[in-house]
Amino acid sequence: MLLNICVCPGDGIGPEVTAEAVRVLDAVAQLHDHHFSYDVRPIGGAAIDETTRPLPPSTLEACLASDAVLLGAVGSPRYDHLPAGQRPESGLLALRGALGAFANLRPAVAHRSLVGSSPLRPEVVAGSDVLVVRELLGGIYFGEPRGIEGAGQNAEAFDTCRYSTASIERIAHVAFRAARGRRRLVTSVDKANVLATSRLWRTVVSRVALDYPDVELEHQYVDACAMLLVTDPTRFDVILTENLFGDILSDQSAAITGSLGMLGSASIGGRVGIFEPVHGSAPSIAGQGVANPIGAIASAAMLLRHVGLETEADDVESAIVSVLETGYRTADVAAGSLPVTTSTMGHRIAEAVAEVADMRHPYHAV
Ligand code: IPM
Ligand code: MG
Repeated sequence: MLLNICVCPGDGIGPEVTAEAVRVLDAVAQLHDHHFSYDVRPIGGAAIDETTRPLPPSTLEACLASDAVLLGAVGSPRYDHLPAGQRPESGLLALRGALGAFANLRPAVAHRSLVGSSPLRPEVVAGSDVLVVRELLGGIYFGEPRGIEGAGQNAEAFDTCRYSTASIERIAHVAFRAARGRRRLVTSVDKANVLATSRLWRTVVSRVALDYPDVELEHQYVDACAMLLVTDPTRFDVILTENLFGDILSDQSAAITGSLGMLGSASIGGRVGIFEPVHGSAPSIAGQGVANPIGAIASAAMLLRHVGLETEADDVESAIVSVLETGYRTADVAAGSLPVTTSTMGHRIAEAVAEVADMRHPYHAV
């Protein structure tokens, strides 16, 4: 398969972790005779430095012309003084909007070998496997009007949370379809006791659920869900929620896996998907070679699955598990053991891709 991947490393640890994801993709390409080409483009703070804009038109054009976007992270305190629309984060939001990426899938799995690395008790996290389905193009992230009026003591700020029926319907379908390939439970999360958008959310999701009689639907308030995610995470299968709640709950679900560095994600819905780790740019550890590249590598696996390379995606995911089971850990999940660097972890997973593919071979000698 020929695949043209637009790589947007972005800021902070973004370049380090995407380099390892590309290393793993190269191992996959070599093994299966695929040809992956990479068009590397700036986004976020890196793009502001180069062009003064967080999403330069040339980056957007390259993303639109690609088969998939592999993204690192955006953001740095260096740009905190800039007005909202000119900050690194607005580049990512604009890219999601331009690509029509309304569905953000964020799986959080408690790998057996990492249950001791979670800040939660092993018996609480063991067996957890949650998929957060986050609506990515609506809600308070994009609603208008927004702004700050007045100044000093009189300053007043406002944001608008807005959801259309159609935008709730399409993300609900994504969640129900995902649940069919899993344990068939959708937990729809809202704040329907307070917010109008949540009341519409609940009504529309309940209606969509009628198309999926084989999937169970429950509704939960976001505050209760936040509590249950850390006290009883195994009770969840698919969490379906709006943009801001999904942003918060997906970071929280990382506690199950041991570290935010473990989570990959797929932002899909349009012709071109964005595959991005859930973690941010982590400026305090950038450039030190200590970041966990597994979130980026897991995102690359989601990219492969999305373009139809199922076996290849499975191999990358198995390679991650196998390397963790051999005891390799970056600092964030080391829990007392000696950590390896970002690039050692990337190299090991790239090598393991060939090993797990070999195990799959029918003539594998046992
Ligand atoms: C995420 C991030 C982004 C978001 C930021 C960087 C705009 O936190 O992908 O979760 O809020 O969506
Ligand atoms: Mg976030």
